[in-house]
Amino acid sequence: MKIDIISVVPQLMESFFAHSILKRAKEKGLLEVNIFNLRDYTNYKHGQVDDYQFGGGAGLVMMIEPLVNAIESLQKDTKYDEVIFLTPDGEKFNQKTANTLSLKNSLLLICGHYKGIDQRVRDHFITKEISIGDYVLSGGELGAAVLVDAIGRLLPGVLNDETSALMDSFQDNLLAPPVYTRPEEFRGWKVPEILMSGNHSKIEEWRHEQSIERTKEKRPDLLD
Ligand code: ADE
Repeated sequence: MKIDIISVVPQLMESFFAHSILKRAKEKGLLEVNIFNLRDYTNYKHGQVDDYQFGGGAGLVMMIEPLVNAIESLQKDTKYDEVIFLTPDGEKFNQKTANTLSLKNSLLLICGHYKGIDQRVRDHFITKEISIGDYVLSGGELGAAVLVDAIGRLLPGVLNDETSALMDSFQDNLLAPPVYTRPEEFRGWKVPEILMSGNHSKIEEWRHEQSIERTKEKRPDLLD
């Protein structure tokens, strides 16, 4: 899978991808992430990519030309399955969207800054708008990093134990069950006996029950 990202702060993103689990995904050739600097696509002086908004009001808006130059130039090489704009007014990102996007071949992520991007880019180039939560970040980069991480770890072969992504919280709309490792007893706190029984079908049953209990307690909204 290929994910291209357009950003005005590419350095911020590069350091993230250089150290995450996605490094392994990249090394294995399962995921290619390319970051493009929007300022490389502007014809305005001093790398300008934003300007005051028409109609007045505080805050700069990212201009249409640099964005369209960048998008169209990248589209010459790649027919993207989705062109995604990260924005607080987009559809809320969740595991289901991560699953769906992980099945695509190529994505282009656009990171906004300031007051946002010229609406005409959204109207004519963006195929999907995604928010990572109900709060406003200073730019879309952290959102893009969240998407790449959540999607990247779902690609077959990225995680060592492939089943572990399927057992994550939110798959099936349930939170993951509690997990334990050595030692079997610490300060008198014991690991649930069932996990030491070796009876795999009983263990799976117990884990499923625990998932349901945990979801009822912490995130009842997921069960609605
Ligand atoms: N850009 C600014 N805030 C954002 C958010 N909550 N989600 C995605 N992109 C953003």
